[in-house]
Amino acid sequence: MVRAQGVCARAVYGWARGAAQCSARLVLGIDTSCDDTGAAVVDETGNILGEALHSQKGTHLKAGGIIPTVAQKLHKEHIENVVQEAIDKSGVSPTELTAIATTIKPGLALSLKVGLEYSIKLIEQYKKPFIPIHHMEAHALTVRMLHMVEFPFLVLLVSGGHSLLAVARGVSDFLLLGQTLDEAPGDTLDKVARRLSLKNHPACHTMSGGEAIEYLAKMGNRMQFELTQPMSQHLDCDFSFAGLRNQVNQIIIKKEREEGFQMGQILPCVNDIAAAVQHTVTAHLAKRTHRAILFCKKEGLLPQSNPALVVSGGVASNEYIRKALSIVTEANGFSLYCPPPKLCTDNGIMIAWNGIERLRAGIDVIHNPKGIRYEPKAPLGIDFSERVKIAALKVPYLKLKT
Ligand code: KG4
Ligand code: ZN
Repeated sequence: MVRAQGVCARAVYGWARGAAQCSARLVLGIDTSCDDTGAAVVDETGNILGEALHSQKGTHLKAGGIIPTVAQKLHKEHIENVVQEAIDKSGVSPTELTAIATTIKPGLALSLKVGLEYSIKLIEQYKKPFIPIHHMEAHALTVRMLHMVEFPFLVLLVSGGHSLLAVARGVSDFLLLGQTLDEAPGDTLDKVARRLSLKNHPACHTMSGGEAIEYLAKMGNRMQFELTQPMSQHLDCDFSFAGLRNQVNQIIIKKEREEGFQMGQILPCVNDIAAAVQHTVTAHLAKRTHRAILFCKKEGLLPQSNPALVVSGGVASNEYIRKALSIVTEANGFSLYCPPPKLCTDNGIMIAWNGIERLRAGIDVIHNPKGIRYEPKAPLGIDFSERVKIAALKVPYLKLKT
């Protein structure tokens, strides 16, 4: 089998694990869970043979948030081209695919529907098995395409829709230690960026909220504003970001009043606000992750030798957050793994890879997809958060020297 473009895909990204040989089993992955239409063909050893992504970021930035009907319309317009591009780049004929894997949960109902309906059409056309994918499980296992991270490991997933800590025990076996009680950190950063009118900032207008906050924070002094850490009295691994957003909004209103600024104008202290909010989000994530590590140690949930923390999801692209988490892992003898930013944000590669993981484990390879439904809400694994609460572990102070 000749895969001229595919063979070097790994090397192009700098992830080659030696001489990349394409193996026989190939999965086409499709993701339309939120606002990106992604597709990729990946082989059993993690070679990315072809991939394509259409991002709706620009449209949603202009609209001031994701409008589900608009997201659906854009998925419908682009899915055909995105899938075709991924297949064309791979040099693989659809008949050579082993299976088609598609995100069916969790996500925006209208967006999931487009991906599932399109996939069913392909499955019927090419008579291929279908592998339904849990989007968060796919984020959690992407790292295994790049590194030999064995089960069980601890995983922190932080994106625009999720904030959760879990123990990954197997391909479809997770223990949920904690999750957000209100909004996700990416959502908070997006909303703060919007309230700061960063789309009017010449350097930030094409960036997502999280990217813009990270960019501005580098030039800011976080000490200019004092923000209270969320949930410091709660000795568990749950998260909360809505109160923090409220605190930041109050600061912005006060500053606008003091400066005589209108909403829509960029405040002179915008960099300092960005630095303060980024730091508080980071400290909250680091504290809960530290507690999760202590809980796993106490309960013997992870191997004693070389335990690992994996961090993924769009917010995990943030260097400041990665640095803080590396301080936590170093202090506790854990290895830290973060996929490169391109694989942290939504993409078709992680879905194709999860399809490979499921194929290898023989989980959910479906030959008649008639009964398959998309599920906008879907928990991750077995809920262990009550056990974490009962343990009520205190976390020692750790200086995040960032
Ligand atoms: O995983 P993702 O692509 O989509 C889902 O939400 O599922 O994550 C997108 C989120 C957005 O909220 C965006 O603002 C955030 O990830 N994000 C970041 C950074 N890049 C993207 N947050 C913080 N720092 C970044 N560098
Ligand atoms: Zn995601």
